[in-house]
Amino acid sequence: MVIVKKASDLSEFIDFQKKKGNVIGFTPTMGALHSGHLELISRSTQLSGTTVCSIFVNPTQFNDSSDYSRYPKKIESDVKILVSAGADLLFLPEPDEIYPKGTDNLELYDLGYLNTVLEGKYRPGHFQGVAQVMSRLLKLVNANLLFMGQKDYQQCMVVQRLIDQMGISTRLVTCPTVREVDGLAKSSRNLRLSPEERTLAPLIYQSMQEISRRRDTDSPTFLKEETVRTLTEAGFRVDYVEIATADTLQPLEHWSSQTPSVVLVAAFLGETRLIDNMLLQL
Ligand code: PAJ
Repeated sequence: MVIVKKASDLSEFIDFQKKKGNVIGFTPTMGALHSGHLELISRSTQLSGTTVCSIFVNPTQFNDSSDYSRYPKKIESDVKILVSAGADLLFLPEPDEIYPKGTDNLELYDLGYLNTVLEGKYRPGHFQGVAQVMSRLLKLVNANLLFMGQKDYQQCMVVQRLIDQMGISTRLVTCPTVREVDGLAKSSRNLRLSPEERTLAPLIYQSMQEISRRRDTDSPTFLKEETVRTLTEAGFRVDYVEIATADTLQPLEHWSSQTPSVVLVAAFLGETRLIDNMLLQL
């Protein structure tokens, strides 16, 4: 695996691979890699001739500066993981390669409703930061396929909107959420959970399964309220539990056999914020 730190070296590598006729698959990450990330890399190696991964802890998407400074860094083990997963190139930029003019006057993107609901509402500025780093990475990598996780459901919608606005031909491939055996979605932030918090954390997944099971008997509003109560009584600090239409994220008032829906949850355990979601089959 080649490791490059400079945008110019990345472009040179990509040009060469494209000239060879290779499909370029790209998986952007912030490192501290786990099997959720590996799922994306493995899809990329299956579907692309050249698999590119980036590790960059993007300062502009952290609305909480202590979350940024405490973000886990594990570059040595990440490199080993990427080599064994079959990645061809790791892009490991410093901030000035991504933001050559600094981060003070970056472009603001029109993310519409996505910018103001759920993660957009509870993490102000977060999706602007995601759009800023992703627009730069998408331009630099110029990938045919982009692999991202359903774990960050709203982020996938933001990036799809960005791709549409940029008018590029990169196709977003959304990969299923990888979970621990007890249902907890894999996340770099799980490393921060205390043993007691780790025991409680799967309740998010169990609550979403409960919502899915009780669709025939209870309304979305009732199930949302009950889930907030259950999580709060167990010791979570809930940001939101939402049941929404899968393609717009508009809150669902009544179940409809015509409308695919999704449950989305964000809640703190101690200082650690966990998010998860589940698509509800029709
Ligand atoms: P990061 O949290 O490192 O996640 C990188 C990619 O891995 C994202 O597409 C995310 O949805 C996916 N992912 C994380 N946990 C997963 C899981 N349990 N199962 C499947 N996929 C999972 O998301 C980011 O970084 C950043 O916002 C980024 C897109 C890199 C922009 O900075």
